[in-house]
Amino acid sequence: MYPRAMRSVGGGGGLARRHFILYPRTAPRAGQGRAGAPRRKGILMANVVVVGSQWGDEGKGKIVDWLSEQADIVVRFQGGHNAGHTLVINGATYKLSLLPSGVVRPGKLSVIGNGVVLDPHALIEEIDRLSAQGIQVTPEDLRIAENATIILSLHRELDTIRESAGAKTRIGTTRRGIGPAYEDKVGRRAIRLMDLSDHETLDLKIERLLSHHNALRRGLGIAEVSAKSVREELSNVAPRVLPYMDSVWSLLDRKRREGKRILFEGAQGALLDVDHGTYPYVTSSNTVAAQAATGSGLGPGAIGYVLGICKAYTTRVGEGPFPTEQDNHIGRLIGERGREFGTVTGRPRRCGWFDAVLVRQSTRTCGVDGLALTKLDILDGFVEINICIGYRLDGQEIDYLPAGEHAQARVEPIYETVAGWQEQTVGARSWAKLPAQAIKYVRRIEELTGCPVALLSTSPEREDTILMRNPFEA
Ligand code: GDP
Ligand code: IMO
Ligand code: MG
Repeated sequence: MYPRAMRSVGGGGGLARRHFILYPRTAPRAGQGRAGAPRRKGILMANVVVVGSQWGDEGKGKIVDWLSEQADIVVRFQGGHNAGHTLVINGATYKLSLLPSGVVRPGKLSVIGNGVVLDPHALIEEIDRLSAQGIQVTPEDLRIAENATIILSLHRELDTIRESAGAKTRIGTTRRGIGPAYEDKVGRRAIRLMDLSDHETLDLKIERLLSHHNALRRGLGIAEVSAKSVREELSNVAPRVLPYMDSVWSLLDRKRREGKRILFEGAQGALLDVDHGTYPYVTSSNTVAAQAATGSGLGPGAIGYVLGICKAYTTRVGEGPFPTEQDNHIGRLIGERGREFGTVTGRPRRCGWFDAVLVRQSTRTCGVDGLALTKLDILDGFVEINICIGYRLDGQEIDYLPAGEHAQARVEPIYETVAGWQEQTVGARSWAKLPAQAIKYVRRIEELTGCPVALLSTSPEREDTILMRNPFEA
């Protein structure tokens, strides 16, 4: 698969074994029996975790929406409204940032887990926007973890100030206050959703938060924030947000025992993970699949099948290394055809060739069982397509992305050139409709990443999806 000279990280292309646990046929009462995946009609069923395997915007929203037909519950477990997920259903477009992508299907329970950072203003806006599109979100179908961290205006402001400070320190964040809110969470001074209902301790919590932030603000030479203004900000939003509050770990535990199927919806991508990504050009949460458990209050056994979403090429928004970037007419062509503009910020996304080294690495850090390959249609008409199969670093060939920032910026891609296809794949709904060269391209991606393609997406529309292996029944 790789030239002999390349060092192989983590062995060859062997697939990770899937883990299934059997649910008892009759659901035990809470506190009794074992937890695990449901068994229906004699078929083993797993929960499914959807994660991005590149730098985000792989098409997770579309795939989660498509899969949610088979799920009972859709759970967000990390990130916040830095995410931008676009769904296209019968010509209507829905843009979601904070709400799980299952929210557009009637009868599904949507859950925002403790691992998410919640901007209450953004939540209210999104609920109102959806309502104007004819989708009502009520406490019946949306539950939010009482221990989720709140994003305040001061977090947004700090994010923007840092991002405006200079090109040398800029990460290219979405300026939504995500990083500063996670900092407060691990700094043990965050305001959490439940605090909005606990008037006795809220003042003390605000004081603790402001003793940190006002010291920072004095250093930055900006006006201090008063406790009164934070209290007002919170009391303005509390009546709209508190009705959704719940003990999510317990709710999900109960639902699992009832045999309900859970779909976990990741935001961002593995290469934006705060530990495993292109640090420091990352987001401030763990985006890898294991976070689905921590970020929702379930044990690791709840995870089941991990579906890694990847585009047939690569994009990235914001600063940071991008070995296969095409800062030229090819990148611009991919960007125009793929409409690669940020859903959240409208920024043009940087575009480049498919990087098998990166996706292979993500499949390992996430424990991916199968890939959903999206936007194959954007490559229609290319005479030749490049795939990155390794890197050259200081004269040596390597088959992994080194951890250091400086080394990441220096790696040079080694390409394999494959023939493109002139026929259209856009809108294809069956494998038989795909041109032979497109099938070869998909097979090559499977070989290089060591991971089977379970789903293929050929347009933004929900139904333009080819199923090879159902993740819920795999
Ligand atoms: P996410 O953040 O991973 O949910 O992805 P985004 O929604 O930010 O970006 C993916 C974009 O590609 C959206 O505009 C989708 O409507 C669109 N999209 C998803 N799958 C396909 C596909 O197979 N083909 C095309 N042409 N567009 C797609
Ligand atoms: P979805 O869920 C693409 C990027 C930002 C920036 C870095 C840090 O739509 O795939 P942050 O605001 O999180 O502190 O920014 O992460 N980023 C994303 N890029 N898709 C996303 O989400 C992203 N969320 C954050 O551009 O480089
Ligand atoms: Mg997106």
